[in-house]
Amino acid sequence: MPSALLEVQGITKRFPGVLALDNVSLAVGAGEVVGLIGENGAGKSTLMNILGGVIQADAGSIRLDGRAAAIRTVSDAIALGIGFIHQELNVLDNLDVAGNIFLGREPVWGGPLRLVSRREMFTRAEEFLKRLGLDIPGSTPLGQLSLAHQQMVEIAKALSQDARLIIMDEPTSALTLSETERLLVTVRDLRAQGVSIIYISHRLGEMGRCADRVVVLRDGRNAGELGRGEINHQAMVRLMVGRDLQDWYVHGSGAKAPRYFEVRGLRTRAHPACEVSFDVGRGEVLGLAGLVGAGRSEVAQAIFGVDAPLAGEVRLEGKTVRIQSARDAIRARIYLVPEDRRRAGLVTEMTVRENITMPDLWRYTVAGLVRGAKETAAAGAQCAALRVKTPSVEAKVLNLSGGNQQKVVLAKWLALEPKVLIFDEPTRGIDVGAKAEIYRLMRDLAERGVAILMISSELDEILGVSDRVAVMHEGALTGILERRECSEEAIMHLAVGQCPLRSAS
Ligand SMILES: Nc1ncnc2c1ncn2[C@@H]1O[C@H](COP(=O)(O)OP(=O)(O)OP(=O)(O)O)[C@@H](O)[C@H]1O
Ligand SMILES: [Mg+2]
Repeated sequence: MPSALLEVQGITKRFPGVLALDNVSLAVGAGEVVGLIGENGAGKSTLMNILGGVIQADAGSIRLDGRAAAIRTVSDAIALGIGFIHQELNVLDNLDVAGNIFLGREPVWGGPLRLVSRREMFTRAEEFLKRLGLDIPGSTPLGQLSLAHQQMVEIAKALSQDARLIIMDEPTSALTLSETERLLVTVRDLRAQGVSIIYISHRLGEMGRCADRVVVLRDGRNAGELGRGEINHQAMVRLMVGRDLQDWYVHGSGAKAPRYFEVRGLRTRAHPACEVSFDVGRGEVLGLAGLVGAGRSEVAQAIFGVDAPLAGEVRLEGKTVRIQSARDAIRARIYLVPEDRRRAGLVTEMTVRENITMPDLWRYTVAGLVRGAKETAAAGAQCAALRVKTPSVEAKVLNLSGGNQQKVVLAKWLALEPKVLIFDEPTRGIDVGAKAEIYRLMRDLAERGVAILMISSELDEILGVSDRVAVMHEGALTGILERRECSEEAIMHLAVGQCPLRSAS
């Protein structure tokens, strides 16, 4: 390892009911990229929050450049050269790019003419963005940027604060394939510029591509680490989970009744010129692939009634279902597990139990009173099935780790008895072990007769779980592949809008 920039020793952190970190150590060399991995709730974000000055450790020491560092606040961390790109981005949509980068430190050298300093600010912001290979005007309102670019703005902000160590907590979990590639290049560029990076991700493949070393946490403790040449999927999983994982993907027996759920001529506001038609069999998992922006989520939202379609028909068991709102969809037992848990999936101020039983409270209600015990038991059973890591079902969702929050979203919908279940990016931010668990649950539901539509940007997942795969490009359905026709190549071909690989049959 190069000379140590950061040395963390014996860090312990306790939350009510949880020992989040237990005597954890971590070292990062100058210009080194350290991958930090571990299951959901292993303590990764907690450790980073301590380094970033967001929270304080109960015990342990932090040294920077060999000197003891006291990090009590976020400003302390910034002053010490630690930049933090959070798991949930915290950029301000109503400011422009430069405003975000220089928030609270707006250059004032323009004298009394504020205008001059703004122009100066734009130029300086653009310089930092160029270091990241990005050519966007500093005056662009942040709300207009893609998530990937918003993230770059956060990195530019860290650079503008002279960060020598940048922490990236799951930076790629919401990025597209090409955006992920771009970020990995940025990570390597930053390293070449001498910046150290702690890189957290559940996409283990990224570790081999950017990390010099991988450090593994399990249940809040150091579980081991892997040097450059030892980084491979199996070794990482073994350290994370403590054993090998098998039966990763499970295929089922396929559709029991084709055309159980039919979508005909659906037109959405995002792509009014395109009509989308497909069907999902009873007991079938239909994968919906495509690049981000292809209009997949819009189709899901139209079916679920959150964004009423311009035209089209939805039929279930041969009967037309009129869907004007999510209430109509829920009544027909058509559910959507949304992509963004913060927007549509969870009320983080409420408890795990309340979130899980919320959509279906009537089931736990007797004469208008919610039956506490029954509700608690149901929520507990769902948490156990999905292995949600929480001290109890009475904990606020806010206090769960990112991946465990996602599991609560799933638990909430699985507790119902769906006929059609639409998953939008179901395993985003979820660890390997729990992913396997979720695929198994999805398959169990299909075997029990549910029609499942699964939107995913991870090709492995699409290939591993789907019985058939529908592919979208710019709002249109470009093809539906039978299981035997599915390959990464065939899907990508359709996803970029080219004609199907197979000859039309
Ligand atoms: N503010 C808090 N109050 C109570 N418990 C907390 C708080 N923050 C984290 N925890 C708990 O600490 C443990 C570690 O959480 P942490 O967020 O560090 O996990 P993680 O490794 O980042 O997981 P993920 O991969 O899901 O993001 C979890 O059990 C979590 O519920
Ligand atoms: Mg985390």
